[in-house]
Amino acid sequence: MPEPIKVVVTGAAGQIGYALVGSVVKGEVFGADQPVILVLLDIEPMMGVLEGVVMELKDCAFPLVKEYIPTADYEKAFKDADACMLVGAMPRKEGMERKDLLAANVKIFKGQGEMIDKVAKKTVKIVVVGNPANTNALICSKYAPSIPKQNFSALTRLDQSRAKAQIADRVGVSVGDVSNAIIWGNHSSTQYPDMRHATVNLNGKKMSVPEAVKDDNWLKNEFIKIVQSRGAAVIKARKLSSAMSAAKATCDHMRDWWMGTQSGEWTSMAVISDGNKYGIPDGLMYSFPVEIKDKTWKIKEGLEINDFSREKMDISAKELVQERDDALAVCEDGQQKK
Ligand code: NAD
Ligand code: LMR
Repeated sequence: MPEPIKVVVTGAAGQIGYALVGSVVKGEVFGADQPVILVLLDIEPMMGVLEGVVMELKDCAFPLVKEYIPTADYEKAFKDADACMLVGAMPRKEGMERKDLLAANVKIFKGQGEMIDKVAKKTVKIVVVGNPANTNALICSKYAPSIPKQNFSALTRLDQSRAKAQIADRVGVSVGDVSNAIIWGNHSSTQYPDMRHATVNLNGKKMSVPEAVKDDNWLKNEFIKIVQSRGAAVIKARKLSSAMSAAKATCDHMRDWWMGTQSGEWTSMAVISDGNKYGIPDGLMYSFPVEIKDKTWKIKEGLEINDFSREKMDISAKELVQERDDALAVCEDGQQKK
């Protein structure tokens, strides 16, 4: 058996946390023979609820678990961490944009970044789920300067799964028959779900998504809007933000990071831009298609970008520049710029 790894889930008493922790200790993320020490971090007033979550986890009798550590103490939580799923943050309510959460949430990621810098392993892999996810990940990384920037990411996998599900329904295939969907940009209503490079297996034949869908107008308009606003549609229907699907996407994101992507396939992750890929400014946490090997992601290069895509990709980059500036203003002097 390998040595146990320490995995931290923040917001573990919340609704995504509840849907997430079972999969982590079941072996679905880090491997079926990988023992895990699971840290469940939440705030002090939630310790009673968290105790209940741990009671249930114990009652599940997961054999891979070495220890459960429920805590509100950042230092205890992040000490020697191998992987962090940073979920804990306020969710938006009906009528809000995700960036409306910035002032309330960004300081959480500053504080956690500072502690990760101090006590986590330098190889720690971090996925930020709490919104606005891209900008929170950027801030977390900024305040953890001793950890490589490549070790931070934000979740756009849920958007990718939503896009694949829409295409599968439209074409009448299983979601497993759709590959290489791309989400560019921010996990927000400016994201650009791009199917130009995606493929579908239709009646045993592999073809491009535009060829299978046969409706460019739908792909360029309604489809993009559905994916961009799916989070809001779930909130409207459930009166709560998505949790089961967000938990599944978080596990898929971390599993691919840990285990790698299949040959010829890529996945979408918000990662740090170096300014040299697809014309996206340096230093933004921007969602790109990535290929992963040996726990290291690499942006898939060489995909053709037409004028339509260019415009959409730039709109999302522009929003991320604004969010970054707002977040830095909040972190530096507590004020969000108007
Ligand atoms: P929730 O309110 O049910 O749970 C959030 C939990 O975080 C609560 O238990 C809260 O006490 C805890 N928390 C708050 N501050 C914390 C801190 N400093 N440290 C640790 N824990 C803390 O919310 P939820 O539905 O689980 O959503 C969590 C976040 O995930 C929200 O910001 C939501 O918008 C976001 N989200 C992102 C995606 C995505 O695709 N990126 C998808 C769904 C939800
Ligand atoms: C989602 O996409 O479901 C989450 O980001 C929650 C939200 O606010 O939309």
